[in-house]
Amino acid sequence: MAIDFFKLAVEGVQGLHPYQPGKPIEELERELGLSDILKLASNENPMGPSTKVIDALHEPTIEMDLYPDGNGFILKKKLSENLGVSQSQITLGNGSNDVLDMIARAFLCAGREAIYSEYAFAVYPISVQAVGATAKVSKALPVDHEDNPYGHDLSAMQALITDKTSVIFIANPNNPTGTWLNAEELDSFIAGVPDDVVVVVDEAYFEYVTESDYPDTQQWLDKYPNLIVTRTFSKIHALAGLRVGYALSNEQIADLLNRVRQPFNVNTPALLAATAALDDQAHVETCRDINTKGVKFWRAACQYRGWDYIPTVGNFITIDFEQDAQPIYQTLLREGVIVRPIANYGLPNHLRITIGTPQQNQQCLDALDKVFVNG
Ligand SMILES: Cc1ncc(COP(=O)(O)O)c(C=O)c1O
Repeated sequence: MAIDFFKLAVEGVQGLHPYQPGKPIEELERELGLSDILKLASNENPMGPSTKVIDALHEPTIEMDLYPDGNGFILKKKLSENLGVSQSQITLGNGSNDVLDMIARAFLCAGREAIYSEYAFAVYPISVQAVGATAKVSKALPVDHEDNPYGHDLSAMQALITDKTSVIFIANPNNPTGTWLNAEELDSFIAGVPDDVVVVVDEAYFEYVTESDYPDTQQWLDKYPNLIVTRTFSKIHALAGLRVGYALSNEQIADLLNRVRQPFNVNTPALLAATAALDDQAHVETCRDINTKGVKFWRAACQYRGWDYIPTVGNFITIDFEQDAQPIYQTLLREGVIVRPIANYGLPNHLRITIGTPQQNQQCLDALDKVFVNG
């Protein structure tokens, strides 16, 4: 090829590594000719969506020939009623990844800095680098930290703030570690951040968290005008395939995010499904309970086998096998079980396993046991 298009790309994009998703079931079926594959690789909800969502999607009146409502009025109205924020404080995204990207495009550019933690969610570096901004990555808390191993070290994050800092990303809980910050520590951190630095608290898993001192950050929006809270319908609401997420912020920030938002970024079925999902709190509670029991199951299984795991409040658990996890991952694939290697996060000995139904958890554990029995 006469032209090296890599050299034509903007500098940040040249250095990017694409996001590595979990292996799709169909891909493993094609590769190994297996059927009945169990995927616990992308922190999806094994319970599937509410029956209210299924009913809404069977509506004969879904207008596929027309553009969706670009303002997502029905969904914003329902969110605003449920959360007690005004519609003008909500920004809808094609998944919360889309919202994270809008934040980067609205507040970052070459010469500006963003801070996030080591082991933090992989989309932050992509969004930051793509707009040419500089990433400042704080060291995570040490592996042997008694409260929060692998967690965000807020003092280290604070120490990276300079007059070039524009955005700080905090995942609470974080993926892939499952670590989290309590209300007191997060509140005092945000209080110490300069008012002109945007703090993003990414709460993709917040509905799963049962800890009583987990923060209710949305209550802080008045107190901290520089706060953006992001959430998603991909996790407990089980709508990952439809792509809907949202940000809550002060009105001015929401106005800015909506300026960079692609028109019609959330499609019509997704708007209907997300709105219906909000009507089924009982389903959310059932999913949360099953997840909490699943976490207990995995904790006990790890303790019994002497596997170190990172304490988690999400719908996944990350286990340290104290050896290269890639061969374990490959053997599990041959058993028809897909989990997530996370060497790309700097954790080559760990595997992240999404909490499944009781039967799925047992199936995955049986496959792991086979790996260790067969050496
Ligand atoms: C911490 C975190 N934030 C955001 C997302 C993005 O989710 P989505 O774009 O599906 O809303 C994920 C997905 O795994 C995540 O783990």
